[in-house]
Amino acid sequence: MELVRATEAAAIRAQPFIGRGDKLAADGAAVDAMRKFLGTVNFDGVVVIGEGEKDKAPMLFNGEHVGNGNGPAADIAVDPIDGTSLTAAGRQNALSMIAVADRGSMLDASSVFYMDKIVTGAEGIGVIDIRQPIDVNIAALAKAKDKPIGEIVVAVLDRPRHVGLIEEIHAAGAKTRLMLDGDVAGGINAAMYGSRIDMCVGTGGSPEGVATACAIKALGGFIQGRLHPKTDEERQKGLDAGLIFDHVYEASDLVRSDNTYFVATGVTDGELVSGVRRLGPIIRTESIVLRGRSGTIRRVAADHVAELWA
Ligand code: FBP
Repeated sequence: MELVRATEAAAIRAQPFIGRGDKLAADGAAVDAMRKFLGTVNFDGVVVIGEGEKDKAPMLFNGEHVGNGNGPAADIAVDPIDGTSLTAAGRQNALSMIAVADRGSMLDASSVFYMDKIVTGAEGIGVIDIRQPIDVNIAALAKAKDKPIGEIVVAVLDRPRHVGLIEEIHAAGAKTRLMLDGDVAGGINAAMYGSRIDMCVGTGGSPEGVATACAIKALGGFIQGRLHPKTDEERQKGLDAGLIFDHVYEASDLVRSDNTYFVATGVTDGELVSGVRRLGPIIRTESIVLRGRSGTIRRVAADHVAELWA
């Protein structure tokens, strides 16, 4: 629960930059706030997955120690804003997140930026496989969920690289939910009971893949990832780091421990959480806290005194 203060702080500091067209300023404010608040949390954390290398955005660096140094030793994955462009544009679905697991248990996939992923709820376990064609996976999920294929909704990042995949989803008879950005929220929504999304699929960030796996373990859902290097140089960097290509990473390979926590606070409104908002003298945040061991999902609504954040 202490961790949620760090994602709340990141969202609150990002709030003035929502819809202001400056994604680096928004991300920088969120990174600084998160780093400061993480310093007060009672754990000895090492950032295994810091986000931002993609576009030289501000970031918490891989290997950086966070926490007050006391308490349990942990790996952490952070994304002070997943959806920096969404935030800058004032679009929906940006959130701030932290995932924590026992030390040494998170896959350090930082040398390879992209990962192919497939995420569903528990119904996908034993029936979905990233190696199968998408129409086979859609039909299998529809059967497992006892739903007509026409009601299956598949979230995909709206990118030119996914044009073929999107056509195949439509040809299979399913619906797409195209996301401008933010496949962490897309993945969690796919695994969350009662959400409108049944599956999240496609190529997105590897850091986001490992962070999503922490949440999926807590939700009891299904995730597989396969690294997707863009260049020979990146492939070599991955090999040097001990990563395996053409290999399917299961949830338990992405995060080996079951002792995982995942917290996220809304930056802009989304299906998962509402965005941070200023309401006169208060700032309202909404967060979600998932705990792997117990499978508990907590929703945390908080009102913060705006004056103290001035
Ligand atoms: P940032 O906001 O941190 O830049 O990431 C947004 C995001 O959409 C992730 O959710 C996703 O995994 C990744 O970028 C996809 O990368 P790309 O924009 O290069 O397709």
